[in-house]
Amino acid sequence: MAFMKLSKLLALSFLSKEISASLLTSPAQLKSAEYDFVVVGAGTAGCVIANRLSEDPQVRVLVIEAGRSNTGDGADVIQIPFLVGDATPSTSFDWNYTTVPQQGLAGRSVAFPRGRVLGGSSSVNFMYYTRGSSDDFDRLARVSGDDGWSWKKILPYILKTEKHLPPADGHNTTGQFNPAVHGFNGHLLTTLPGFPSDIDDRVTKTTEVLKDEFPFNLDMNSGTPLGVGWLQSTIGNGARSSSATAFLTEALGRPNVDVLIETQVTRLIQTGHTGSAPILQGVEFAQSRSGPRFKVTAQKEVILSAGSIGTPQILMLSGIGDQKELEALKIPTSVHLPDVGKNMQDHPFVAMQWIANDNQTQDTLNQRPDLFAAAQKEYDATHTGIFANNPAGNHIGWFRLPDDSPLLKQFGDPTGGPHSPHFEMMYENGFFSFTQTAPPTGNFFSILVAAVAPTARGSVKLATSSAFDHPLIDPNLLGTEFDQSLLVEAVKSSQRFVAASPWKDYIIKPFVDSVNATTDEGIKEYAAKFATTIRHPVSTSIISKESDKTGVVGPQLLVKNVKGLRVVDASIWPFVVGAHPQAAVYAIAERAADLIKAAHKK
Ligand SMILES: Cc1cc2nc3c(=O)[nH]c(=O)nc-3n(C[C@H](O)[C@H](O)[C@H](O)COP(=O)(O)OP(=O)(O)OC[C@H]3O[C@@H](n4cnc5c(N)ncnc54)[C@H](O)[C@@H]3O)c2cc1C
Ligand SMILES: *[C@@H]1O[C@H](CO)[C@@H](O)[C@H](O)[C@H]1NC(C)=O
Ligand SMILES: *[C@@H]1O[C@H](CO)[C@@H](O)[C@H](O)[C@H]1NC(C)=O
Ligand SMILES: *[C@@H]1O[C@H](CO)[C@@H](O)[C@H](O)[C@H]1NC(C)=O
Ligand SMILES: *[C@@H]1O[C@H](CO)[C@@H](O)[C@H](O)[C@H]1NC(C)=O
Repeated sequence: MAFMKLSKLLALSFLSKEISASLLTSPAQLKSAEYDFVVVGAGTAGCVIANRLSEDPQVRVLVIEAGRSNTGDGADVIQIPFLVGDATPSTSFDWNYTTVPQQGLAGRSVAFPRGRVLGGSSSVNFMYYTRGSSDDFDRLARVSGDDGWSWKKILPYILKTEKHLPPADGHNTTGQFNPAVHGFNGHLLTTLPGFPSDIDDRVTKTTEVLKDEFPFNLDMNSGTPLGVGWLQSTIGNGARSSSATAFLTEALGRPNVDVLIETQVTRLIQTGHTGSAPILQGVEFAQSRSGPRFKVTAQKEVILSAGSIGTPQILMLSGIGDQKELEALKIPTSVHLPDVGKNMQDHPFVAMQWIANDNQTQDTLNQRPDLFAAAQKEYDATHTGIFANNPAGNHIGWFRLPDDSPLLKQFGDPTGGPHSPHFEMMYENGFFSFTQTAPPTGNFFSILVAAVAPTARGSVKLATSSAFDHPLIDPNLLGTEFDQSLLVEAVKSSQRFVAASPWKDYIIKPFVDSVNATTDEGIKEYAAKFATTIRHPVSTSIISKESDKTGVVGPQLLVKNVKGLRVVDASIWPFVVGAHPQAAVYAIAERAADLIKAAHKK
């Protein structure tokens, strides 16, 4: 990726505290072939589940994770916030997936990063902490027929997860967030930007001079995200806070938890049946394509937290999916559940850049080894400075199309309600793109524009019957006329943003790639050429009401027509949230842990 592809990797070791002894690297080290719960995937949701279930010392939990430890060799890029651009794609922390050719992207296949490491994607993501709107959760409650998922009922779980901390530079944050909507005693560390940039004041001034279109929002995490506000990130004490650091490290300190890493679950195994429903409490795993297969049994249940790609992949490998598709791969069908792997949604985004009249954007830091080394030294000594900050901006904004928008008239409103955005802007103090190369010299301002209420749906399908082959990933980016037109409206809005008076002496001209993005057609061409995923896939194990024949899991997240198996991860969301989804994943995981505890209470 063009932004922050830092060649000079650091060799800082002070962050890399070794995790305690129950972190196993070989199946031979397992103390038992039976546990109460087996959690598949030590990702964002999986680490929450492992932590909460093991609070009861009587309960034995095994977590199986395909990826590596989040500490050790090269882990600086996932621990030091500023280096996040080097965490993916195609690193030892990533699955290295690529999409199938995308029709909406002029036939391009694009990189599709997913964390393959303790903490999962929370260990490699851009750390944006955005909860979504109250509408997102209320719609989840409506779709599932379970009021327990409503914003009102979920907010206590969100607050339970969070521990909001002061920013790295210790500045006074009055007026930058609303403490009343935050948690201060939870596990996951969050904070406001801890390093100022030249564009901060210009962004805030734009919210004053163009306040109808770009109003200031004191706290986008209140349930009503619309407007421009200060970004909150999953960073604390100058380091990334992931599900591994926040939840798994603590669980690993308990004698009733085993975590087996570098080991891939290959399928689930039937251990019995109740009536016609198979019980799927056996878990098969292996460390390589041709290596030996091992098996453990969960006496209470198996929790699939392998994420929006891994979870449907494992379900299908276990014979749960569309019978026709499974037959084509000679996988015996255990349960015909055609929605497995279908319905995928994701956020397409495109980066707009302008040449900036500035000499100290983040570009300068990348171009000047002396400045880079100085920043590194400061971080090393005190955990402060720009390295402690999220490099992906200090402000973001969420917007709706106007109520009388022809697009909404023609296609209807895909959001959950009036508090939910159609598109997002991220304001960047430098050249930012996942698909363009940063020029070696110059200073830039970028706005990343995302369509956060898309209508397109894609899929994950098995390519072969081996767990060690990548599945076919089709997020169907910009796959509908609505999504393409929505992104056009969003780009035009970003152009109005930089045309505002606070940018008059700052923006010199558009960067060469976007000079033709002045008409709807020009913008569509630009997007087809440069848009990609912002890495937010969901809905591949979609939730539905208990009585619905369609869907993959019911309101309690139990897989339909099966016993002993639950899915807890981003894949259950019935539509993509109008937000960067990690907070929404933590939220469902916290409630799911309570549902699991209640289901097995003696
Ligand atoms: C590069 C990137 C940037 C992002 N930026 C942001 C952001 O700034 N803010 C935000 O809110 N969201 C962001 N996201 C999205 C967010 O991180 C994810 O939506 C969220 O973390 C998903 O959580 P999950 O529990 O569903 O899956 P994951 O956290 O991905 O966990 C799944 C885990 O299961 C493991 N696994 C999969 N298959 C198997 C198997 N067969 N056997 C064993 N283990 C397996 C994986 O290795 C992984 O550890 C980003 C994502 C990426 C990849
Ligand atoms: C992804 O690519 C990196 C760099 O080539 C490599 O080190 C890593 O092992 C790959 N990951 C997987 C799961 O193959
Ligand atoms: C922070 O700023 C606010 C408003 O300017 C002020 O009321 C408050 O006392 C300040 N807090 C500290 C700790 O200085
Ligand atoms: C930016 O320009 C100013 C004024 O010319 C100069 O003092 C400063 O050193 C420059 N900064 C960098 C990082 O080049
Ligand atoms: C802009 O469009 C014109 C006319 O189609 C074309 O000749 C030119 O190469 C385009 N410029 C860029 C930078 O794409």
